[in-house]
Amino acid sequence: MNILLTGGCGYIGTMLTEALLGQGHKVTVVDVMWFGNRLPAHANLTVIRQDTRDVERIPMAGVEAVLHLANVANDPCSELDAKLSWEVNVLASMQLVERAIRHGVRQFVYASSGSVYGVKDEPQVTEDLPLVPISDYNKTKMVSERVLLSYRDKILIQCVRPATVCGYSPRMRLDLSVNMLAVQALANGRITVFGGDQTRPNIHIRDMVGVYLHLLEQRERMSGVYNAGFENISILDIARRVTEYVPAEIVVTPSNDPRSYRLNSDKLLATGFRPRYGVNDAIQEIIAAFREGRLKNEDGCYNIKTMKTIGNLGWACAAKT
Ligand SMILES: NC(=O)c1ccc[n+]([C@@H]2O[C@H](COP(=O)([O-])OP(=O)(O)OC[C@H]3O[C@@H](n4cnc5c(N)ncnc54)[C@H](O)[C@@H]3O)[C@@H](O)[C@H]2O)c1
Repeated sequence: MNILLTGGCGYIGTMLTEALLGQGHKVTVVDVMWFGNRLPAHANLTVIRQDTRDVERIPMAGVEAVLHLANVANDPCSELDAKLSWEVNVLASMQLVERAIRHGVRQFVYASSGSVYGVKDEPQVTEDLPLVPISDYNKTKMVSERVLLSYRDKILIQCVRPATVCGYSPRMRLDLSVNMLAVQALANGRITVFGGDQTRPNIHIRDMVGVYLHLLEQRERMSGVYNAGFENISILDIARRVTEYVPAEIVVTPSNDPRSYRLNSDKLLATGFRPRYGVNDAIQEIIAAFREGRLKNEDGCYNIKTMKTIGNLGWACAAKT
């Protein structure tokens, strides 16, 4: 299949690109490369350094499916520049789907977020529950979903609401809970847990990639919104799991982030998707990568630290690599 992947140089996108190429797809990655580009060259891969806000420059001819991952991707980065987040996450998403429709693209998949639900008391958070987004990031995801779904009579729209992703990627993120706690233990011998009681869902990065591949395979049999998260555990439990592999002191401090929720992904499971990895796999592969020197605890692995160093946040770069 001929696939356009936005955000293909990111944490998930890097692994997803590799998997798509492995399945024989032709992939065009569009990414502004805020965090660099670690994609190896491949005959079926075109990588374009390009801001999605400059939508008319995005090549769409011949594209069969758009996988749209390029967003300002967490709460602190969205707070850093709320206008940028609304432009990138919502406005550019709308312009991208309109361009896809104009070019006859059949399928548009959007990386939303499980955080759109906010704080929930329900033991099972299913797709039909009301959304109570707390942060700008959560709000942009909710609004973007709704804008995209309003085009569902013209193109197949699939919105994924992933849990927090964990595990190793060549473009590593250490601002995600499992990854962060594992590296704290390895680097400092100490894990600092904020709050600790909040329950959060998790998904292994290879399962996250698997969900996108599954959506491409199932195509017309799936539409609408899908939760994607399989291990609902507290932050403190994640820290304890890390210490099963790396000895470390756990320090609990107060948290100002009340989000606590349990994702129910039965709707996705009913389509035949099965997760194959878990939090423990992620912890073990991070330990291996750290000890082998493939993973370093550096600023580039924290989105907010990198975004603070970028001047005009890469507006409209068009260099082709
Ligand atoms: N990682 C998670 O735990 C998680 C959980 C839920 C949802 N998501 C969503 O999945 C997607 C990918 O997340 P990730 O963890 O890989 O994040 P990431 O920050 O590593 O990747 C995002 C990529 O998009 C690119 N990008 C951002 N704005 C762009 C723009 N305007 N034009 C072109 N490229 C742009 C960045 O350069 C980066 O390479 C995001 O939409 C994120 O919100 C991630």
